[in-house]
Amino acid sequence: MAKRTIVSMPGDGIGKAVLNETIRVLNAAGFEANYVEGDIGWEFWCKEGNPLPDRTIKLLEEHKIGLFGAITSKPKDKTASELAPELQGKGYTYYSPIVTMRQHFNLDICMRPCLTFTGNPLNFIRRTADGGVEEPKIDVMIFRQNTEGLYGGVEWTNPNDQVYDAFMTHPKFSKNFGWCPREELAISTRIFTKKYVTRIVEAAFEYAKKRGFKKITVCEKPNVIRETSGMMLKVAQEMSKAKYPDIWVEDVNIDAMTMWLTKNPENYNVIVAGNMFGDIVSDAFAGLIGGLGFATSAQFNPESGVAVFEPTHGSAPKYADYETSIVNPIAMISSAVMMLEHIGESVIAEKIRKAVAEVVAEGKVRAYDMMKMKGTPDVVKQGAASTTQMADAIIAKLK
Ligand code: NAI
Ligand code: MG
Repeated sequence: MAKRTIVSMPGDGIGKAVLNETIRVLNAAGFEANYVEGDIGWEFWCKEGNPLPDRTIKLLEEHKIGLFGAITSKPKDKTASELAPELQGKGYTYYSPIVTMRQHFNLDICMRPCLTFTGNPLNFIRRTADGGVEEPKIDVMIFRQNTEGLYGGVEWTNPNDQVYDAFMTHPKFSKNFGWCPREELAISTRIFTKKYVTRIVEAAFEYAKKRGFKKITVCEKPNVIRETSGMMLKVAQEMSKAKYPDIWVEDVNIDAMTMWLTKNPENYNVIVAGNMFGDIVSDAFAGLIGGLGFATSAQFNPESGVAVFEPTHGSAPKYADYETSIVNPIAMISSAVMMLEHIGESVIAEKIRKAVAEVVAEGKVRAYDMMKMKGTPDVVKQGAASTTQMADAIIAKLK
């Protein structure tokens, strides 16, 4: 069989270190692939005025599967001042390459798993009634609608006549906001479409069915945000009746969820939410299983087959220049495990997942975050594993 080609997009900062180590682990695990490097990130904004060059889009169009590290983005004044002098004043505007990639390829399904690794010192613990301590095992997949809602980009400051007049036709707008001078108005919309709500809800049901879970949790706020959150809940309830009678739909508001998940995180296995609430609830759960060194995500479009796998963390620029990289590569390695599963390489995926779990459980090799150290350049001297040493330990466990 022809080798698969993976578009590797290291991006900026620590993205490069974690992706390099991940490819080393993939090779050692016997995953046969060619890697073509896709340019993305701040570097390309500065050099070319485009943080996601067309050539990278073409690579993804052709090869479909991307492994992405992280990028740096900076405030508006820096986007202008760090642009190459010959490009300045020529009308280039910075945009987020991640959001652009999502929108260009319509990567509407985002999956964010939060799974406890036994022995991780960063695991959430809680007090028992008799004053002891227990460590609940967390096994949750968050399905986040990735293209719509509050991140859809339909927003205005000082809206024009047409927009303003349209809003004024809504009685609540004219009553509650009609007093506000137009130039002092900022409006961001939250748009849901039934098509994409149905797709994310269905993805959640399918996952629940595959794993044998009897419940999915819709994490929205339909009692207040009646139209959009209401649509998601209704779609889920109808789909349960029509297609998944053995799986019931639980309705938990996003605010209540952030409380429940530190009380009884083990009660949740499959959560589905819109873009913003999915972002929030996945970060909240990630905090219970070790945070940024462990949080991963997959985003894909089921029709085109384009899929991008990435850790949740950013480029951590302050660590990027250390002579020895100290950041934890597990989030990136676990993202690659999701990629392997997605493309049907579940045997190799399981092999890597087990190796990571063994290293964490054994506790001999721990990155600085797992040792609860401050990320100073001398952590390796103090006994923390470097990025490379962590990958080496995982490779040594591959069987
Ligand atoms: P960040 O995730 O880069 O770093 C925050 C802190 O988390 C770090 O200082 C470090 O203490 C810790 N951390 C992150 N990754 C880690 C790892 N693998 N192992 C151990 N510790 C880790 O977020 P920050 O500092 O807010 O943003 C830095 C840059 O990254 C910004 O330019 C931001 O725009 C960008 N960013 C990019 C993202 C992406 O590419 N998906 C996501 C979030 C931020
Ligand atoms: Mg987030």
